Amino acid sequence: MIPVYPDTKVALKGKKGLVVGIANDQSIAWGCARAFRALGAELAVTYLNDRAKKHVEPLAQALEAPIFMPLDVMVEGQTEQVFERIAKEWGQLDFLLHSIAFSPKEALHGRVVDVGRDGFLKTMDVSCWSFLRMAHLAEPLMKNGGTLFTMTYYGSQMVVENYNIMGVAKAALEASVRYAAAELGPKGIRVHAISPGPLATRAASGIPEFDELMDKAQSKAPSRSLVSIDDVGNATAFLALDGARLITGGVLYIDGGYHIID
Ligand SMILES: NC(=O)c1ccc[n+]([C@@H]2O[C@H](COP(=O)([O-])OP(=O)(O)OC[C@H]3O[C@@H](n4cnc5c(N)ncnc54)[C@H](O)[C@@H]3O)[C@@H](O)[C@H]2O)c1
Repeated sequence: MIPVYPDTKVALKGKKGLVVGIANDQSIAWGCARAFRALGAELAVTYLNDRAKKHVEPLAQALEAPIFMPLDVMVEGQTEQVFERIAKEWGQLDFLLHSIAFSPKEALHGRVVDVGRDGFLKTMDVSCWSFLRMAHLAEPLMKNGGTLFTMTYYGSQMVVENYNIMGVAKAALEASVRYAAAELGPKGIRVHAISPGPLATRAASGIPEFDELMDKAQSKAPSRSLVSIDDVGNATAFLALDGARLITGGVLYIDGGYHIID
């Protein structure tokens, strides 16, 4: 019988996870990585490029990450290199956190009906297809099953002012989670979309009038509070536990209940 509430300091001991999306100590991926590590998991951490490295390196050190590598999903072959290194050093992977999104300013800041093909494809490439590619590369490493996570937002379901083309990408991402969950479920691989309420991160600073969105979230959410990256991390880490092995394919809202309110 798998203990549902195991000793928290070792609940993920022996598990190995890849965390993609730490830019700084405000990143949602950092909140998740801290929670995974607190439960005893060993982590591989990536950083976008040389410019990002100096911000991410001290965080990777704090996590005692034995694998620390560059990963820009737009650079041909770099995603494969990360998984090759994991295969060589670990020979297995138990969970993966995909916490990245990008849309060129000219695509994000306009109406959806005006988006050009290039802006659309770049948005979908980084924010959606990269998750499917990582699932493809993770599958052979998850020999004993595993958990795949990606970060989404409520703007996939409802038209949220200023979220624009990213809402379209997140809708595709959530559908990808369902299909991947159905395809990989027989191998014991679970797939989750995590949907946090608004958080003041670097990615969020690219969305106009984000402060108004935060005010609205706080005043309308049943909890009357904003979420923190630790709130997101704790709930996400729960889904990586063996006790959560039969939960898959859904969208977990960590938003103080905002999504149920009209
Ligand atoms: N901040 C919010 O309010 C909020 C709410 C719901 C969902 N999300 C989602 O959470 C995820 C993480 O964002 P965040 O808010 O922590 O911001 P963040 O800026 O800290 O993280 C975004 C990450 O995406 C990475 N990234 C961008 N382009 C990339 C590329 N080509 N290759 C590899 N990495 C790339 C950046 O390096 C960065 O680490 C995103 O998917 C975002 O859409 C954010």
